Amino acid sequence: MTDPELEQRLRARLAVIEKDLAGHTQSRSRFVTEAASHLLEAGGKRFRPLLVCLTAECGPDADAPEVITAASVVELTHLASLYHDDVMDEALVRRGADSANAHYDNNVAILTGDFLFARSSELTATLGAEAVRIQAEAFRRLVEGQILEGVEPEEGVDPVDHHLEVLAGKTGSLIATAARYGALFSGASQEIQEALVAYAEIVGVAFQLSDDILDIASDESGKTPGTDLREGVPTLPVLFVRRANDPGDARLLELLDGDLTDDAALAECVSLLRAHPALAEARAYVQARAEEAKTALAPLPEGPVRTALEAFADIVAVRSV
Ligand code: FPP
Ligand code: MG
Ligand code: MG
Repeated sequence: MTDPELEQRLRARLAVIEKDLAGHTQSRSRFVTEAASHLLEAGGKRFRPLLVCLTAECGPDADAPEVITAASVVELTHLASLYHDDVMDEALVRRGADSANAHYDNNVAILTGDFLFARSSELTATLGAEAVRIQAEAFRRLVEGQILEGVEPEEGVDPVDHHLEVLAGKTGSLIATAARYGALFSGASQEIQEALVAYAEIVGVAFQLSDDILDIASDESGKTPGTDLREGVPTLPVLFVRRANDPGDARLLELLDGDLTDDAALAECVSLLRAHPALAEARAYVQARAEEAKTALAPLPEGPVRTALEAFADIVAVRSV
């Protein structure tokens, strides 16, 4: 349960951030403004800005203007990465709307992602050199994660470990940055900053694992089910099926190794995975990571903020959208 006063403060700050974000997507060109606003207006959970605001509650100055700016920095970076991601994944639907690449074309989507990342960088510069360093590190890790996603694990590296490293880069890095900014700009102690970053690194991986489960399990995620499968992007349930290498899974393994750009094959594969125990195994793994994230909060005092952060980890683990 979230404390009503805390909830009210967070809602008020998120409303300010929402207005700011609409401003940050403006350009002198009407077309660029429209393209840059496309995904912002389509929706989104604003999960990262919420985490910036929530972690800022752990410092003495949760209301610092830098906290609000940092929330926009993180959300704009995230948005930029989605424009690029949908090109790479050839995704047609995002947030229940046409992806930018489907609505416009790949070139517009890529350059609009660059525009949003440039906007995010301009804002980061107003936060000082340390913020620029943190942002650059997050960007590097995002890109490393994204590159590693497309390559096989190195010799001797377990595929599940490789996968978790990919997720730590492509998702954990920016979610940890959200926590870092919230803690830093509200003036939280070094010990609390480190605890919040450790927590958010784990929550970030759990968030992506949940997202990947939804790719298989949900028809209501605002994205096309089976996109990861079709693109050959490994996910935890699939890695668990492969690791078990059960003869009873011969048909599923044949489909996974076959051409999943074929709609009928993809539908059969999704349906076999939905009924497979690997899905429950993956869900249990995510729940265990959420518990681990909560443990990282040990240095925080008991109270409504810690309770809300704990609830946040649980919501991530069991999310259905
Ligand atoms: C979504 O993953 C994608 C990411 C979490 C990160 C993508 C990172 C880049 C494209 C690097 C470039 C970054 C910038 C800032 C320009 P997904 O495809 O598994 O999830 P989905 O189901 O939401 O598509
Ligand atoms: Mg994608
Ligand atoms: Mg992707």
